[in-house]
Amino acid sequence: MNPQEISHDPHARLVFAHNELRAHLHGLLRASRLMLLGRGDFALAPVIAKALRFLAVDVPLHARDEEESMLPRLRAKLKDPQSHFAYLLEHIEKDHEELAALQRDFDACARKLSARLPLEGAAKRGQLEPELKQFREHLAKLLLIYDSHMKVEERDLFPALAVVFTPDERSAIAAEMDERRPQNAVSMNPALATRSA
Ligand SMILES: [Fe+2]
Ligand SMILES: [Fe+2]
Repeated sequence: MNPQEISHDPHARLVFAHNELRAHLHGLLRASRLMLLGRGDFALAPVIAKALRFLAVDVPLHARDEEESMLPRLRAKLKDPQSHFAYLLEHIEKDHEELAALQRDFDACARKLSARLPLEGAAKRGQLEPELKQFREHLAKLLLIYDSHMKVEERDLFPALAVVFTPDERSAIAAEMDERRPQNAVSMNPALATRSA
């Protein structure tokens, strides 16, 4: 599938966003390990900043893609509102609320930690405490919830897009995803990513 085809395919775009999120979380985890080892230097600041921006800007848009474009359409097709699948949709929305609150706490402590990274040389672990401990605790929670959340969505939810929705419905979802983003937004739209590369 080429980038242009991906941009018209909501399933592929949602998975693309998950993979971007995984890459940012991995960058944060690596940064946290380096800081723990006393190798936290200023080179980590842009890695942390990019991840925080993705969590604050792109992830809420992704959550809206799911909550506003996908979940209502799936609910409309459910025959049994008490089914396991109906419960799953509810659970996904609750995860989003929990993750949004966690992200706000994480953002605040990650900014404080990043501001303490020295311009020259590396900081000893003790120089970054207590922010480093809070950063690691918040990050561990984010990783835990996102890991199961994304697995459930990719295993139980996204495949339904191809099975349950007509091509017209899938095009409508992709159009709504575009409307949520500025015309020149690269993230979350692989077609734009290749145009600007
Ligand atoms: Fe989600
Ligand atoms: Fe998702």
